[in-house]
Amino acid sequence: MADQKKPNNRDNPQSQSQSMWGGRFGGGPSAVMQEINASIDFDKRLYREDIAGSKAHARMLAAQGILTAEDCSAIEGGLDQIAAEIEAGEMVFDPALEDIHMHIEARLRELVGDAGARLHTARSRNDQVATDFRLWTRGAIDALDDLYGGLQTALLNAAEEYAGSIMPGFTHLQTAQPVTLGHHLMAYYEMVTRDRARLADCRKRLNENPLGSAALAGTSFPIDRHKTSADLGFDKPMANSLDAVSARDFALEFLSVLSIGAVHLSRLADEIVLWATSAFGFLKLSDAFSTGSSIMPQKRNPDAAELVRAKVGRIMGAQNGLMMVMKGLPLAYSKDMQEDKPPVFQAVDDFELCLVAMTGMLEDFHPNTEAMKRAAGLGYSTATDLADWLVRALGLPFRDAHHVTGAIVKYAEDNALDLPDVPLVEMQKVESKITDDIFTVLSVEASVASRTSFGGTAPDNVRAAIKVARENLMQEELTEKDSS
Ligand code: ARG
Repeated sequence: MADQKKPNNRDNPQSQSQSMWGGRFGGGPSAVMQEINASIDFDKRLYREDIAGSKAHARMLAAQGILTAEDCSAIEGGLDQIAAEIEAGEMVFDPALEDIHMHIEARLRELVGDAGARLHTARSRNDQVATDFRLWTRGAIDALDDLYGGLQTALLNAAEEYAGSIMPGFTHLQTAQPVTLGHHLMAYYEMVTRDRARLADCRKRLNENPLGSAALAGTSFPIDRHKTSADLGFDKPMANSLDAVSARDFALEFLSVLSIGAVHLSRLADEIVLWATSAFGFLKLSDAFSTGSSIMPQKRNPDAAELVRAKVGRIMGAQNGLMMVMKGLPLAYSKDMQEDKPPVFQAVDDFELCLVAMTGMLEDFHPNTEAMKRAAGLGYSTATDLADWLVRALGLPFRDAHHVTGAIVKYAEDNALDLPDVPLVEMQKVESKITDDIFTVLSVEASVASRTSFGGTAPDNVRAAIKVARENLMQEELTEKDSS
């Protein structure tokens, strides 16, 4: 036991860990205690944030006269060196030192001695980890926001290219009415735009500073939480110290936002999978985003899209997992909350990959527009146009027009004809007032061109929507650049 009392012994990290909290502990932890307790394997990802938080804390302590200027600069110098060591892969991570906070502090004490040991004045690992994790999540949101910009641009580019390309629009996955591929892609643009806005909302609520709440009750030292908030880019200090150390709703909200975003990506991914089947034949997947089969040489599998479709399971699993961890936890900090980080890290890694893969697939998008157009004409997809013509030209009530149309569709079906090929006389047998003007509305081109209501699928509408979206997107990027 003798050397367990010796502080700063790098050969024996367990002694260092105990030197931080082990004042009244005799023996060391059992091996399994150490294993279940240690979070260093995953929370080493917080090292940048931990160092930034410690620097801000040290500067504030010095400004408040709680720490000398010399100690503060020794601490800052030491922390810079530690950052360099970690980046160079020189830091030895050891589960005996529990977590990233203890690793950094232990190394700091080695490097700068007593000054390092003074850093933890008016601070606890509870407010420290809450601060680090908020900072990390904020950084992740900013990185995802950038990737969303790329996805939006890819969607807009593809939508523009295919603004006039006709495809079947489906309900119940049954051919419903012709739409344009540009319109279809713009539907996803709208979804991801909302997802990106949800991320920004979540960032706003998250951006408050827990640091200075100490273990749970605040501190008797004359600290300045507004100063550390400004230093770390937080909008303000969190108002309640108990809440500050035990709140993880920022992480839950973030995971919820990612879950919704992943659901949207999975829907698009699923359509890509469907479109790439030989039954649909709407899409030929590029080599970059498909794989071959080891046994069936003709196969081209949409693996990237399938995996984007699947990742939603992991992301929502992360959200559910953390919900369960937090449920029923009494205030304030409990060690349960150490389990908050793996789900968030995993969900961010997965989601980043999904965004990048989806953007890549859209940049490499080669639809078979002929096949799409052909399919758009199947299934009597312009029957609604026929009914609308009866309403417009003959003044029939829509319900009667629906009935007349049904009879004409039945005739077409029985005689294996497409709607535009049903002879006028046959239509007149159903409704005598029909004239040959009706044929102007039965083609798929005429159908989409007529859908000019706001938000409708007419190619001109779609082009106008793309223009507005591009302007909004550009505006967004400009505002972001201004505020950063
Ligand atoms: N590794 C811990 C976590 O992630 C740090 C906080 C430890 N606090 C404590 N009171 N033991 O939650």
